[in-house]
Formats: sequence, C-alpha cells, structure tokens
Amino acid sequence: MTSDDDRRNFYSRIAAQYDHAVVEHVRYQAHVRVPERLIELHAKKNARVLDLACGTGLGSISFFESGFEVVGIDYSSGMIDVARKRPYKELFCQSIEDDFPVADRSFDMVTALGVTEFVKNPAALMHRIWQKLCPGGLCALTIPKPTDAAQELDIKTYTLEEFLKFVDDQEFEVIETEEFYGWESGHLSVLDGRTGDPHHRVDYNALFLRKKII
Ligand SMILES: C[S@@+](CC[C@H](N)C(=O)[O-])C[C@H]1O[C@@H](n2cnc3c(N)ncnc32)[C@H](O)[C@@H]1O
Repeated sequence: MTSDDDRRNFYSRIAAQYDHAVVEHVRYQAHVRVPERLIELHAKKNARVLDLACGTGLGSISFFESGFEVVGIDYSSGMIDVARKRPYKELFCQSIEDDFPVADRSFDMVTALGVTEFVKNPAALMHRIWQKLCPGGLCALTIPKPTDAAQELDIKTYTLEEFLKFVDDQEFEVIETEEFYGWESGHLSVLDGRTGDPHHRVDYNALFLRKKII
C-alpha cells in the first residue's frame, strides 16, 4: 500500500513536469471545468478561495484570472515550490487531513481536485471544509468513480451515493453533480522512471455543494 510519505515524495519528484504531463498527456479536465463552474455559480466579482491539495496550482488559474484571493494547501513541498510561482495569497505545506491553519467561516469557495482518491477520512475532511466556508459558501470536489483497477492503482473510489454518506445534510446542500473523464494512470509514473505501468482510465463525478445557512 502507498504510504503518505511515498505519495508526497512522488509528487515532489515529478512536480516540475506535472503541469505539462497532465495537460498534454493525461488530458486532465478537472482544473478547468470545476473552477469555471464555481465561478459561474458564485456570480460575484470577489471571492476568497481555499484550494485543498493545490499541487502546482493548475486548479487555481481560473480563480487568479478572475482576480480572486486564493490560499493553497498541499503536503508535497515540491508541488508547493512550483505553486509559489503563481499568485497565491498564502501557501501551506501540510496534509489536508490535519486542521487547516486558516480562520473559520473565511472562504467563499473551497476546492479539492484530484485528491479524494487518496483521502483516508472523507467525513472529517467534509466537516473541516464546512468549518472554513462562509454561510452560503460553495465547495467542489472530484470523486473518482468505481473502477476494477482501484486496487491496482491503490486509490479510493466511490459512487456518488457512497460519497454523499460523508456529507452531513445539516451542513451542506447538493447543488449539482457533473461527470467527466478524470485521468489515465501511467503518465505521471513514467516521469518518475516507471515506464511499464499499465494505463487505466479513472472517471470523475464532480460534486458541487453549498454550505447551509443555519
Ligand atoms: C493529482 S494531484 C492534483 C493537484 C491539483 N489539485 C490539480 O488538480 O492539478 C494530487 C495532489 O494531492 C496532494 N495530496 C495528496 N494527498 C494529500 C493530503 N493528504 N494532504 C495534502 N495534499 C495531498 C499531492 O501532493 C498532489 O499535489
């Protein structure tokens, strides 16, 4: 089983090549589709965004272009070093499975793109997100759909119904969901010298939630 240290170090080793590989080879879509829909749903000129597992910052480009203030968290120091070249307000190098070092009720949006496949305690993550959102704030996550290759890829996968069990309906309302291609394995591991890894496709559900105003 892949440990957090293994995964963190893997992302640090491939960080400099990540953006090119995911755009050109993986043909990743989440970093464009999810932020652009959030920006439409928010429909205001200003926003504070918390980008969880921000990686190199690809998923915040649309927010930067909208003039939003973005704070990023990722546990890979190599990915954070690349993210520092982007105009984040603040970056924190730590696990998103620990408390976030930001004020409660201080973000209009929270994203978690390309990471629920690795999260050990999704219910705790959802509650932490809820704490950091302003009332009425938006959250969007990508959720990998079940695939026969999950065990071989060592990732968590969920049907939407399974993942929604981690979302407290006193805390969030589901606004909408969207299905799209997620990623194909093999394109990132090759950057780390593993040329023989199999290519398996993983599809995403994107889940858009709003924090309830209680
Ligand atoms: C596939 S990349 C996605 C990066 C970015 N969100 C994107 O969409 O391009 C996965 C990222 O999750 C980070 N990650 C995985 N588990 C994490 C955790 N528990 N805490 C913080 N970062 C984590 C990795 O370091 C890596 O940067």
